[in-house]
Amino acid sequence: MGKILVTGGLGFIGSHTVVELLEKGEEVLVADNLSNSSMDVLEGIKKITGKNSDFVNVDLADFEKSRTIFESNEIDSIIHFAASKAVGESVEKPLLYYRNNLNSMINMLELSREFKVGKFVFSSSCTVYGEPDQLPVSEQTPVKKAESPYGNTKQIGEEIIIDFVKSHPKLKAISLRYFNPIGAHDTALIGELPLGVPANLVPYITQTAAGIRESLSVFGGDYNTPDGTCIRDYIHVVDLANAHIIALDHCDRMEESYDYFNVGTGSGTSVLEVINSFEKVSDQKLNYEIKDRRPGDVEKTYADTTKANSILGWKAERDLDNMMATAWKWQQTL
Ligand code: UD1
Repeated sequence: MGKILVTGGLGFIGSHTVVELLEKGEEVLVADNLSNSSMDVLEGIKKITGKNSDFVNVDLADFEKSRTIFESNEIDSIIHFAASKAVGESVEKPLLYYRNNLNSMINMLELSREFKVGKFVFSSSCTVYGEPDQLPVSEQTPVKKAESPYGNTKQIGEEIIIDFVKSHPKLKAISLRYFNPIGAHDTALIGELPLGVPANLVPYITQTAAGIRESLSVFGGDYNTPDGTCIRDYIHVVDLANAHIIALDHCDRMEESYDYFNVGTGSGTSVLEVINSFEKVSDQKLNYEIKDRRPGDVEKTYADTTKANSILGWKAERDLDNMMATAWKWQQTL
């Protein structure tokens, strides 16, 4: 048995996936350029699992350097997380996003062919659906024109895989379209590490409660939703991590070379419901104010997870309170 290469394996979702893989006895090689992570994460992974994962510090957009990984390791499968992911930054620096996200993807596919890698799982996003016309969002929901260069790299990434496997059908590939991943490992030894001021809701909430931020701005209280705030499908990062492992197994059973799945809980939660859950599990009041809408925000989106439930046999297990409790426990270690 060869190794599983986890690119971006020290990132938020990557690190939780590495833990689940090691705990299942898999051999893992983590590749990460530390652009949005740190070596402490590797320590956290080791403390949780009691196991060492091989690690290589590499920029996967560099083909020759990436090639050396495959020369010195027998890689069976790739889980490809490595990518820049800040929506706002992608609008300011579009070429950086196209260069990082697409070059690394192309390199991983090229090397998959050369070194006979059999399985490939790609981090895609619900952002490919934009503001959906119908809810819940199933895989049949048409993909909309991306709102940001970041979103576009996810759409193009999926298209590159589709075209590539037509020419190289031995590779079995799956895109997982994540909804909103939050929470942290139960041990609080790994979690989300936002750079600077968090753009995403849950790290902003936990940093506000920890006194790092003064007050949370709730972006918009006048949406066409029951309490006026936006609705998302928040999913625990450990549930999401497990979806990757199940997807890798599923590659062995696939007849076609490519498939794609929504990964969410299937239920929609408003910003105020997230805050209420946080206040309940942390037993404190959160300082927040309803402010103007954030440009570009989708009003409501949540997943139809029937396809992942029935074909992968995967289902999210953790509820919102668990997501908020683990996110808060993690924040208190920082
Ligand atoms: C965004 C991206 C998504 C990306 C995800 C994780 C879009 C359309 N989607 O999701 O592709 O995968 O981030 O990086 O850009 N909110 C507040 N106050 C805050 C922060 C957020 O009220 O300080 C609200 C937002 O208006 C939204 C919800 O919380 O309704 C979730 O926001 P966020 O965590 O940023 O995720 P998305 O925008 O859904």
